[in-house]
Amino acid sequence: MAILSIRGLSKTYSTGFWGKSVLALDNLNLEVEQGEIFGFLGPNGAGKTTTIKILLRIIYPTKGTAFLLGRELGEAIQHRQIGYMPENPYFYRFLTGYEFLLFYGHLSGLHYRERRQRAEELLDMVGMRHARDIRLGNYSKGMVTRIGLAQALLTNPQLLLMDEPMSGLDPIGRREIRNIITQLKEENRTIFFCSHILADVELICDRVMILNKGKVIRTGTVGEILGEETTAVRVSVSKYTPELMEQLKAMAVDAREGGGLLHLRAKDAEAANHILRACVQGGGAVHEMTAERGNLEDYFVREVSSVE
Ligand SMILES: Nc1ncnc2c1ncn2[C@@H]1O[C@H](COP(=O)(O)OP(=O)(O)O)[C@@H](O)[C@H]1O
Ligand SMILES: [Mg+2]
Repeated sequence: MAILSIRGLSKTYSTGFWGKSVLALDNLNLEVEQGEIFGFLGPNGAGKTTTIKILLRIIYPTKGTAFLLGRELGEAIQHRQIGYMPENPYFYRFLTGYEFLLFYGHLSGLHYRERRQRAEELLDMVGMRHARDIRLGNYSKGMVTRIGLAQALLTNPQLLLMDEPMSGLDPIGRREIRNIITQLKEENRTIFFCSHILADVELICDRVMILNKGKVIRTGTVGEILGEETTAVRVSVSKYTPELMEQLKAMAVDAREGGGLLHLRAKDAEAANHILRACVQGGGAVHEMTAERGNLEDYFVREVSSVE
């Protein structure tokens, strides 16, 4: 059974005096299975937060519906089973991290002892033990992110919805959040997270969906999406004559000289083979050869800019 199922979801916002409408989400369909880490990706304005808000019943869809843990929008929500980490959490400035978690634990219906115990466990889990008694108003962006994650995990939810969980974190912080997310997956929990930062997504997501201006561009595993890319190959050549250089340059998509070497970029493996053969036949030597692995960031930039 899908933990999260979105069917034909659309959202139009009416804004301004003239009631100008913005199509923020256009017929979105997706299914997330239990234990999956699903990356919901797209640039700013793609419709990611709108989707999460609809799932949380903060706003209504214009069309379509969704099922979370088998319950349709409109049916009673299973609060404790769904954790939400907002993008820009507004937290109570004058509460300490610990008090804040107790307060949310209370709102979530945890009993006194349970919420105290859970708050302490989570402070350790998100690396915030040292800031337990510091007021939220004095937290850095990274600390706010961590305490926001702790809050989302208070009830041990089956499904965690995260809106840009890595933003505002340094590389170490991002790695820690990644580790927590992977650990949650090992407990067979389901994670749906939105991001416009892709570097982290590639490492942990089982599947991703790329969204732009409310429309789905692609869905698949990171491997599937990048697998379609032909991988360029870099070839560096030494001991070349001017004639050989001209010949090789003509075979490459890009060429430059530096450090006594000729650096060539072949468009794919086959083109690289031709370069190697020509190089050896022309008396040159292959100094180095490396495949350029595609990454999601490049893919994303290209795909998104091509539809604009
Ligand atoms: N409350 C709102 N009123 C009008 N337009 C909105 C509102 N919220 C979002 N939008 C518009 O909907 C689109 C999608 O926004 P959003 O879901 O926040 O994107 P993302 O989270 O992917 O950056 C954007 O064009 C945004 O300007
Ligand atoms: Mg957003």
